[in-house]
Amino acid sequence: MGQTAVAHSLLLYVVAPALVSIAICKSGLIPATASPEDGSISWPAFFATYGLLAGLAYLTAAVFSFIYSPLEFYGDEGRDSYLIGKARAGLSKEEAVAEMKRSRKIGDIPPVYPNGWFIVFRSAQVKKMETKYAHVLGLHLAVFRGESGQVYIVDAYCPHLGANLAFGGKVKGESIECPFHGWRYQGEDGKCVHIAYADKVPDFVKVTTYRSLEINDLILIWYHAEGEEPSWYPPEIEKIKTGELVYTGCWEAYLDCHIQDIVENGGDSSHLDYVHGPQIHPKRFINVKWEAHPTKKYLSTTYSERVPFWSSKPDKIFHEQYGPGLSYVDDGGDHYFLTGSVPVGPFRQKSVFMVYCTPASPFNLASRLFAKLIVYFTYVVIKGDVLVWANKTYRPKPPLVKEDPFIAQHRRWFAQFYTENSPRLRPADSLQW
Ligand code: FES
Ligand SMILES: [Fe+2]
Repeated sequence: MGQTAVAHSLLLYVVAPALVSIAICKSGLIPATASPEDGSISWPAFFATYGLLAGLAYLTAAVFSFIYSPLEFYGDEGRDSYLIGKARAGLSKEEAVAEMKRSRKIGDIPPVYPNGWFIVFRSAQVKKMETKYAHVLGLHLAVFRGESGQVYIVDAYCPHLGANLAFGGKVKGESIECPFHGWRYQGEDGKCVHIAYADKVPDFVKVTTYRSLEINDLILIWYHAEGEEPSWYPPEIEKIKTGELVYTGCWEAYLDCHIQDIVENGGDSSHLDYVHGPQIHPKRFINVKWEAHPTKKYLSTTYSERVPFWSSKPDKIFHEQYGPGLSYVDDGGDHYFLTGSVPVGPFRQKSVFMVYCTPASPFNLASRLFAKLIVYFTYVVIKGDVLVWANKTYRPKPPLVKEDPFIAQHRRWFAQFYTENSPRLRPADSLQW
């Protein structure tokens, strides 16, 4: 707990209730609390009043903090992907999940790490002067935030004797210092700038750095199999930057599937009613249209309308997909979603789903509570996909009907994110996730 938080708690739960209790006792408002002769306080009565007020203050603060704090949770992989709630005869839950994974026929999948911007962490997960380890896109990364607040991403393994900079490494200004012999590397260019016990720092020593971008409460990394610099950038949402859209929570889930399966959902109009339709959501989808943006090649959009059964007025949903790793969704109402997936292995994704509510909501208790429910509800709605993604095989040439209009177009659009050296799944990988 920080110093300000301690001061607030002292004020709220100790000082304020004590002062109010003294005032009440002295005022004679409650006859038994002050002695009638000289107005002095009856201490047992004071402590009873104080206990009551402090308890009330604590309860009120707890209720407000529950309503206003974001709801953040992780999906349950065993239960939601494999329908395994508890241990099965002879197998623990983990063993049963592992067996399901081993028995999977993956199919002839595209390369496993497409090029683009991907979420490494949410901004809140890397505090100032803190270092975190991430293993994504086949890379081992140390992600740290310097004294200035700037985030840097470098290769996790120290060029000297290979210690992992993310485990015990110390942030010094805008550099990171290795926990093994203290060699210090600049976040900006990876150059080694300090070795406490050496006369001279060799110029050629450098840790690899990666292009990062911090926008929309997310820390992103640029991945390109050919080592190319970013050819496009995802946009910053102005209302998130200015605080007009209020963060109300997020969920994260690990999914065994190809990242293309997740993104392809945006072009799969015919699954919407079947997976997310009336049985979960009291609305049906109409006028679904997916299209690649005419000029911004990396962007595709899905427009859909959901019609509630009790009304003919549809909600309009706008979904923008930036490259393979990021989606922005406007539900046409009070909520905005930022979501994306990053491959943490050849056939395993970490998906992040963040929920924001609109400016009218923040001071309205009911709408904040509702926004929390929405975080949970989005997970319930997407659980239908999770179950399919985690157990499907990949059909490179699926038979399609005319009511599946966008799948082939979507695959052509997505193919731009694979290049000559995009890594492919090696046969041995399939048993090792
Ligand atoms: S291993 Fe990092 S300083 Fe030696
Ligand atoms: Fe879906």
